[in-house]
Amino acid sequence: MTQIISVIGAGTMGSGITITAASAGIEVCQVDVSQEQLDRAKFYHEKTLKRNVEKERMTQDEADAALSRICYCQDHARASESSFAIEAATENSEIKKKIFGAMASTYPSNCILATNTSSISITEIGKSVGEAADRVIGMHFFNPVPVMKLVEVIKSPSTSKETLARTIELSEQMGKTPIAANDHPGFVSNRVLMPMINEAFHAWNDGVAGPDEIDGIMKLGCAFPMGPLRLADLIGLDVCRDIMLVLHEGLGHPDKYAPCAKLVELVEAGHLGNKTGRGVYDYTS
Ligand code: CAA
Repeated sequence: MTQIISVIGAGTMGSGITITAASAGIEVCQVDVSQEQLDRAKFYHEKTLKRNVEKERMTQDEADAALSRICYCQDHARASESSFAIEAATENSEIKKKIFGAMASTYPSNCILATNTSSISITEIGKSVGEAADRVIGMHFFNPVPVMKLVEVIKSPSTSKETLARTIELSEQMGKTPIAANDHPGFVSNRVLMPMINEAFHAWNDGVAGPDEIDGIMKLGCAFPMGPLRLADLIGLDVCRDIMLVLHEGLGHPDKYAPCAKLVELVEAGHLGNKTGRGVYDYTS
């Protein structure tokens, strides 16, 4: 029987999760309150599939089949049939808890309630849904989702073994490699990655070198696919700032984890990276 999942949030991460699942043979209900966001997601799905056909990674029939597995909905239209609901909405704890409240009351009692949060506590989200906490788990994908192999699976003390096993199974079905971690601020990925990105902003702010030089040195010297400042633009500078704030509040050491003034300055100016056309770099030309 074909598996059906719902992905709540059609932004960069949600739309990436959707196309990855649909390409792997899973039916997906792509949910977002905004029709504009759903249209953007559909455009991205078509573009990604077209690229895969051009690159002979799939046939046109397979691409058409993948697209036909996705329905675009402003409500939880396929909730009753879904075995997984993956939340990929705005990285804001109150918004996520509200969505989880709706998920817990709308989806069946055996549906896994997963979140793609990059840093918000899975334990706290679990607490907000009471008895459903054993079905709450972190399913942290990486940008760009169709390309990046990892799913960081985060379990809270309340997450059941069955929830963990089913999440690992779904991640593998989607062609990803799941690796489990416990629920601590930033989990593993952002506990390690974000301070490095923040330090790159400090190096820039202190006049050690400009962005091109910092990125060039880290790319060529450490074999990174892209430098930390360009990666910050890809992730979103607002997301980077918010994750640093989670580390700052959750781990203590105020000087170590405070977001760099240069990062905060760009966010406050509305320069959020690729998604706004300008961040550390200018993408408008
Ligand atoms: N969707 C689908 N496919 C994409 C894509 C996207 N958004 N972006 C790139 N690709 C594909 C391209 O189509 C291309 O494939 P083909 O040419 O074979 O069709 C392939 O990826 C490589 O892309 P490019 O040639 O354009 O450029 P590149 O070789 O520089 O690779 C990159 C781009 C994949 C983004 C690479 O630079 C990279 O791996 N960067 C590091 C990304 C990373 O670290 N991500 C994790 C961020 S942390 C995070 O997401 C979690 C968090 O909590 C903050």
